Amino acid sequence: MAGVGAWLPPRVVTNDDLARHLDTSDEWIRSRTGIARRHLVDPGTATAILATEAGVMALKSAGCGDVDSVIVATTTPERLCPATAPQVAARLGLAGIAAHDVSAVCTGFLYGLATAAGQIATGVAERVLLIGAEAFSTIINPADRETAVIFGDGAGAVVLRAGAADEPGAVGPCVLGSDGDLSDLIMVPAGGSGQRASGLAAHPDDYYFQMRGRDVYRHAVERTTEAAGAALERAGWRAEDVDRLVPHQANARICAAIAERLGIPPERQASNIERVGNTAAASIPLLLTEDSARGRLVRGDRVLLAAFGGGLTWGAATLTWPELGTVASNMPGLGDQPVGVG
Ligand code: COA
Repeated sequence: MAGVGAWLPPRVVTNDDLARHLDTSDEWIRSRTGIARRHLVDPGTATAILATEAGVMALKSAGCGDVDSVIVATTTPERLCPATAPQVAARLGLAGIAAHDVSAVCTGFLYGLATAAGQIATGVAERVLLIGAEAFSTIINPADRETAVIFGDGAGAVVLRAGAADEPGAVGPCVLGSDGDLSDLIMVPAGGSGQRASGLAAHPDDYYFQMRGRDVYRHAVERTTEAAGAALERAGWRAEDVDRLVPHQANARICAAIAERLGIPPERQASNIERVGNTAAASIPLLLTEDSARGRLVRGDRVLLAAFGGGLTWGAATLTWPELGTVASNMPGLGDQPVGVG
């Protein structure tokens, strides 16, 4: 890993803002999810813009102008077809290179990480720009209080390059899994080939994201903990070796339960859900950017990434933290932060 960057849309929406048109409250949202506010896109801003902005930041952090491949992990592609990544590559002035999307909802960044590592291992690319980008609010039903309070928009990106397995920044084992028998726990029912957009959906709400939150909760804790344990085992690490747990920010209670089961104390857990909500595929690179800029991730730190999402999908990976000259973002209170670490 040679660079990290992030970009959040400027508009901030608080719990009180949501409570003006939804039957909910700041107290309910904070106590059940840990979320206080989120950043949401304005009409006209979609995933390619978020992804490009984050990509620019990560390239700046890596100190390089180009890469050989762009991977965009997203739940909210610009269009059903084609993928968003070629558009992002072109916006970055990199038309001609390999570019494709990864679709694994909130686990997308980890599926993308494994894909990027594979491209480097097979010689497809020397350097890969991996972006997790979500304009998640574009698929949320504004009248559905069970989902409208949880998700936020944003993008985070990393640059990966070929390197030695023992140098800081090396990505370790990746563990991935899925269970399609539970695909209807998290879904947008209509608009795909299963319920075609050419006819009218059975119900207008079928074009929106739907989630069976209570069932998701249980599977999220179990599956993420298992995947994280398997990644630790393959890396030959114990829980006490982990300097930083970076879990997908599904819900603060889910993250706390996973950390507790793994035996990783709160001071070693990365968290941003209070400020940005659940940003799906963007949450892990957003956390990496923020923690690196704040000096909570320093050279040589042993990092455990873990995620869970629709599909169902889940995954975990280990890495050691690299020496980064700069961490670039527009995140409030962060700006472009030079980090003097090591
Ligand atoms: N405001 C107020 N009340 C709400 C509400 C909201 N925004 N959303 C749901 N409720 C109500 C429910 O209708 C229910 O009312 P009832 O008891 O009268 O039926 C009550 O709150 C409790 O609902 P429940 O679903 O049991 O709450 P919960 O504690 O499980 O929290 C979630 C709900 C969605 C926050 C929680 O299940 C969750 O986080 N699930 C995982 C979601 C997730 O991470 N998804 C992404 C995966 S990557």
